[in-house]
Amino acid sequence: MSAIRVARAFTGRDLIVKFAGCYHGHADHLLVAAGSGLATFGRPSSAGVPEGFTACTRVLPLDDEAALQELFQREGAHIAALIIEPLPANHGLLPQRREFLTRLRELTSAHGALLIFDEVISGFRLARGGAAQLFGIAPDLATFGKVIGGGMPVGAFGGARCIMARLAPDGDTYQAGTLSGNPVAMAAGLATLQLLQRESGWERLAGARRGARAAAETGAGAGELSVHLVRVGSLFWMSLHEAGAPAHGCRVVGTRDGAFCRVVSRPCSSAASTCHRPPTRPCFLSLAQQQRRSHALAQALREALAEIE
Ligand SMILES: Cc1ncc(COP(=O)(O)O)c(C=O)c1O
Repeated sequence: MSAIRVARAFTGRDLIVKFAGCYHGHADHLLVAAGSGLATFGRPSSAGVPEGFTACTRVLPLDDEAALQELFQREGAHIAALIIEPLPANHGLLPQRREFLTRLRELTSAHGALLIFDEVISGFRLARGGAAQLFGIAPDLATFGKVIGGGMPVGAFGGARCIMARLAPDGDTYQAGTLSGNPVAMAAGLATLQLLQRESGWERLAGARRGARAAAETGAGAGELSVHLVRVGSLFWMSLHEAGAPAHGCRVVGTRDGAFCRVVSRPCSSAASTCHRPPTRPCFLSLAQQQRRSHALAQALREALAEIE
């Protein structure tokens, strides 16, 4: 919400572009074709959001360069920012093509719009520099949450100094809150990041993920049902999509996916340090994942799949 406000202030423009299935928090103007819990509502927005609040939001399908090009041709001069989860993880796990993300960078730069990477899930999880580091693409602004707080309620955003200088109290763009900069949460977040750095957290996570991936593959491959595993770093997502994993774009979540998730979520959560909630949510591994729990995950998956066959 604040990143978008400062992007609008910096560019002097109003329009925001987001992608269907990407979730960027519960600000009214972003609750359009959002993923996360809303993906299962089967409607494009939330109740309680007046139409006027989303009038300046444009929604594009993921991985559609033609639609992207067409929108920028038509409205490029009015677009303040384009926001995307560089690894969309709120409507399944939908890894994007580097070429598509590069095109976003090129088009926003060419039209004087800002590129915002929402790294709330991917930041400090995929790598210290998040998805931006993995893809080698520098956004103008990036947003963070979850890992950056080490479990405490922390959100952060940052970007080029000239953009951030527009923020209050130095600049004219208001940003504040009772819990902003809360010293306890900040200290806990900082300590977590230092620990991850000092104790090779990302390398250790790579080890945990190899074990859990193998376990998920074994467990998911055991039955008759075709379960598609999509894996990126320490995240993986299991889907029952008959036609194969939905690749880069998002699709309607079917009732069968819902049933699948209900059956596998409890055993998976207790057998491994993962969470697997609605069908749109991937599993997240943590450093607590151990080899022994990977075996339990494989077993739990096998049993759960047998139950729904
Ligand atoms: C990618 C992404 N952006 C933003 C948010 C919003 O964060 P919060 O719920 O802390 O507002 C979430 C929450 O899950 C998220 O997954």
